[in-house]
Amino acid sequence: MEVSKDPIITELDINDLESDMQHVNNPVVGLEPIVKKYLSAVTEYVQDRNNFYFSDGNSKVEVRVISDQIIRVRLAPQSVFLEEFSYAVESLEHKVTVFKLEDEPESYRVETNSVACVIRKHDFKISFEDINGKVINEDLEPMHWEENTDFGGYYVYATKRCQLSEAFYGLGDKSSDLNLRGDRFVNWNTDAYSFGKGQQPLYRTVPFYMGVNEGVSYGIFFDNTFKSQFDFAQEDSNKISFWADGGELQYYYIHGPHIMDVVKRYHTLTGTHQMPPKWALGFHQCRWSYFPEKKVKDIARNFRERKIPCDAIYLDIDYMDGYRCFTWNRKYFPDPQRMIKELADDGFKTVVIIDPGIRVDENYSVFKEGKQNNYFCRRCDDYFMEGHVWPGRCQFPDFTNPKVRTWWGGLFKELVDAGVAGVWNDMNEPAVFGAGTFPNDVRHNYDGFHGSHRKAHNVYGMQMVRATYDGLKKLQKNKRPFTITRAGYSGVQRYASVWTGDNVASWEHLQIGIVQLQRLSMSGIPFCGTDIGGFSGEPDAELFARWIQMGVFSPFMRAHSAGDTAEREPWSFGSEFEEINRKFIGLRYRLMPYIYSVFWEHHKHNFPILRPLVMQEQENTHTHNIQDIFTFGDKILVAPVTDPGARHKNVYLPKGKWYNYWTHDMIDGGGEHYADAPIDSMPIFVKAGSVIPESPLMQYVGEFEIDELMFQIYYSDYEANSFYYEDHDDTFAFEQDIYLEKKYVVKGDVSSMTITQSIEGLFTPRYETYDLKIIGLPFTPTKVYIDGREYSGDLSFDELRRVRVKSNKNFKRIEILA
Ligand code: GLC
Repeated sequence: MEVSKDPIITELDINDLESDMQHVNNPVVGLEPIVKKYLSAVTEYVQDRNNFYFSDGNSKVEVRVISDQIIRVRLAPQSVFLEEFSYAVESLEHKVTVFKLEDEPESYRVETNSVACVIRKHDFKISFEDINGKVINEDLEPMHWEENTDFGGYYVYATKRCQLSEAFYGLGDKSSDLNLRGDRFVNWNTDAYSFGKGQQPLYRTVPFYMGVNEGVSYGIFFDNTFKSQFDFAQEDSNKISFWADGGELQYYYIHGPHIMDVVKRYHTLTGTHQMPPKWALGFHQCRWSYFPEKKVKDIARNFRERKIPCDAIYLDIDYMDGYRCFTWNRKYFPDPQRMIKELADDGFKTVVIIDPGIRVDENYSVFKEGKQNNYFCRRCDDYFMEGHVWPGRCQFPDFTNPKVRTWWGGLFKELVDAGVAGVWNDMNEPAVFGAGTFPNDVRHNYDGFHGSHRKAHNVYGMQMVRATYDGLKKLQKNKRPFTITRAGYSGVQRYASVWTGDNVASWEHLQIGIVQLQRLSMSGIPFCGTDIGGFSGEPDAELFARWIQMGVFSPFMRAHSAGDTAEREPWSFGSEFEEINRKFIGLRYRLMPYIYSVFWEHHKHNFPILRPLVMQEQENTHTHNIQDIFTFGDKILVAPVTDPGARHKNVYLPKGKWYNYWTHDMIDGGGEHYADAPIDSMPIFVKAGSVIPESPLMQYVGEFEIDELMFQIYYSDYEANSFYYEDHDDTFAFEQDIYLEKKYVVKGDVSSMTITQSIEGLFTPRYETYDLKIIGLPFTPTKVYIDGREYSGDLSFDELRRVRVKSNKNFKRIEILA
């Protein structure tokens, strides 16, 4: 058996297996009361640069200053810390301005210029304060652990005080209410077909949450890959606890005070999503499964003939030969390369599914290679891990082994050579029919830090899609890969987009999906979507249309459905609804430059894409429980309609001024607004002062080059900032500054409005001019100056009370005067 670098884990894996067996054989014997051990009084401390070690004589706690606003705490019950390794956190080398330790009579204070970590001497309780001494987060009990391995593990616990009106957010894809307060959660990646509201565990593990109390926010990232649990004042209204079935009690305290700061700082630890290829932001059509080739072509032709934009078509498992990954069913797809080329000529990208289960078949090259090289997972008694999935009897690559990842990445060569543009990773919780997943004793390389499945389970899917992403990146040369995964762990956003798994065609699931997407976005996984229409079951026309409307503002927009459901394309519900679906998919394409800019703001500047209203007004407790209204970026507010028959919606608009996107009526925020929502519309609002770039309608991204860039500019009587981003759309040239980031400042008063533009970057777009549509002017314009020169065009209002100004793309300042 392999020797672990981690003596505790090796020992416990054996104990775990033995104790599991004991329970099976004799469920009564061996159950002793749970004995928890707590830290006691601090007896000494040692400093090593930005690491501070505190001891109570038996156990040690490390407090590490990561940045001015991030402090990490680790517990070593036997005073031996595990080796530094994390799949989530890329680097601990951040900038710290100043830090120091104060030895006070009652406590030690590790301070930066923003936050203090206070370690109370007499009981080792730890708290975090801002620089004014306000306690933001504190231990209710000292950190503790359970050594009684009769219970199959080595549990580590932290327990914090919960404030009276504290609200909680985060934790990834949970299907419960947005505010996590009053609930308890478990993280253990699970294939949760047709999951229900509040059901858990689900597909992903993101042990990161944020608290908001009295207008102040902070975050806790519990970087532990074992099964972990969180209790947000469910058991006891004073208490938040988090614990794991093994591994180290290690968490990062992330300072706010704004929830946006916390999310952005979480991204500095775990990374952001790569800039996706722009086509990945278009509409994607999926189905289990489109086959044979003729069916795929029919679907594609329908999109084009019916003028419904679409960028990608998916091939689900039936494209393979007997569900063997990296093969083709030649009966259905005799010449994949030709088919994919023909689709590409018509503007469609082909995305294929790849699952982790490799069919046990001595005549199958992937199985043979994996077996010869020892790439498949083994049980603790050295037998191969076997289980049944779609192909039948399977073995499973150990994606936590870097060699396996490199091998796997290379296997995509033939698919890439055939023209496949993106890869969809599924069943990677990992899912096994019958058993659910792997047994706990399966051994994993864990990048050299060996561990059992208890430690590797929650990262398995992330490492699979990492192998996929890295492989595609190499094979596709300078093209940005597109990958999508079902399972993941914190940091998975560096490698893939995600979808929320096998949802259901019901109104309740549309509501759940809206919450899941906002939650994922706040939890560091911004490029996310639901199966539009619901995977299982049958949506009626209204539900499908409302889901498409919401889908326009899902970062990832894909319709997908199970094989046993009726046809489910945007035209499947009759002409009235086809028109509505066309209008909204078209809206996605019109807003594409804005959507792309928001992705850049995420990738480069760490902002989330979807933002619940608590991110707009965290000091207003009214927003803490609003979960069906959100903003996409910070300019567009969306209130999807989620009830059958509803034709209006009450929309809380945050403070400031907002425009109805459709009518251009201006509305004062800071209260509820009763918005019209006929079936062919949906409430959308734009913040006053926004500059929203728009594209002419295209049937797919890049269908034609534009001669002129369009902007909708919304008047405001306060100063407002916007930006617009563009680049080559699918290459990495932006990393060499081949991009443009344009910043706008808009400001108006009763008789004038100015728009200024500044430009950064080296990209040269083809167009020379702008078509600016100015909305909401409270005066009749008589003169416009562009960089000091009087503009000679027509200044009359159009039917939507807009004034159009054509300008050169390099203008610096435009003044509009009454
Ligand atoms: C899983 C996936 C689903 C896919 C199906 C067949 O259920 O979640 O999206 O269509 O497997 O591959």
